[in-house]
Amino acid sequence: MADEVRGKAIVAVSGGVDSTVAAKIASECLGKNLLAIYVDTGLMREGESLEVTETLSKLGIQYKLIKGEDIFLESLKGLAEPEEKRKMIGKVFIDIFEKEAKDFGASYLIQGTIAPDWIESGGGLRDKIKSHHNVGGLPAKMNLKVYEPLRDLYKDEVRKLAEYYGIPSDRQPFPGPGLAVRIIGEVTREKLSVLRKATSILEAKINRMERRPWQYFVVLLSERTTGVKGDRRTYGYTVAIRCVDSTDGMTANFTPLGMEILGDVSREITNGIPEIGRVVYDITDKPPGTIEWE
Ligand code: XMP
Repeated sequence: MADEVRGKAIVAVSGGVDSTVAAKIASECLGKNLLAIYVDTGLMREGESLEVTETLSKLGIQYKLIKGEDIFLESLKGLAEPEEKRKMIGKVFIDIFEKEAKDFGASYLIQGTIAPDWIESGGGLRDKIKSHHNVGGLPAKMNLKVYEPLRDLYKDEVRKLAEYYGIPSDRQPFPGPGLAVRIIGEVTREKLSVLRKATSILEAKINRMERRPWQYFVVLLSERTTGVKGDRRTYGYTVAIRCVDSTDGMTANFTPLGMEILGDVSREITNGIPEIGRVVYDITDKPPGTIEWE
């Protein structure tokens, strides 16, 4: 890579295994000529930003944390259609990266894109399934040259590289557009706060399991349903729990999680989060479903 990327580069880091591995490889080649940009989009899980920046420090990667919550939420206002949301998030990311690259004097943008990201974003004879944000959001004309060192690798292969570099590889995948693709319809601060709490409950429970699913998360639906708490009628959100097993994310099977653990999670969510009135479990494989709901 040192031969191909000369001068300065920025690397877009989401905290996931892919972008952290890409950042580590790039920083070995470029040292202080590399700046990792981590954007707190406001679409992250509880405590995520702190965790990510601590990992970057430990790996000795030079980084900058950008607080982007206001601009992301403002840009997403009124958008309910999944592809529009994904494209907007990609655009805001690129605007931030172009500004940061200019300030740093970089002409390259390094991304942790892996094979399933661009395969599923379509092109050639492939049908577009969804615009993964680190592909679909790229404008046709951009001032930065994009370099994607992992673009021919699959998830299981990237995990092996992560182990080699001492990067935690058991971290479950988390999509670039974050919780925005786990809130069906318009993203609001209130919905993000509700989903964050439910996600923490599910993750805490599953992280204690001996054998964890490959990916496990909560989706917040836009429709409300009737319920009863104490002797009062409620009209709360429904959340879906999604747990899947997979090797590369291209195909997946829903995890047959035990009813006991599902019941515990459901009760903890509905007792602890007043806005949520109902919990359902997603039993769809990929295909026909995708892993994320949007
Ligand atoms: P899907 O929903 O396409 O997800 O079946 C396959 C895997 O990719 C993750 N995913 C994304 N990762 N940017 C990413 O970096 C994205 O836009 C994106 N969308 C989905 C998803 O969490 C799953 O692991």
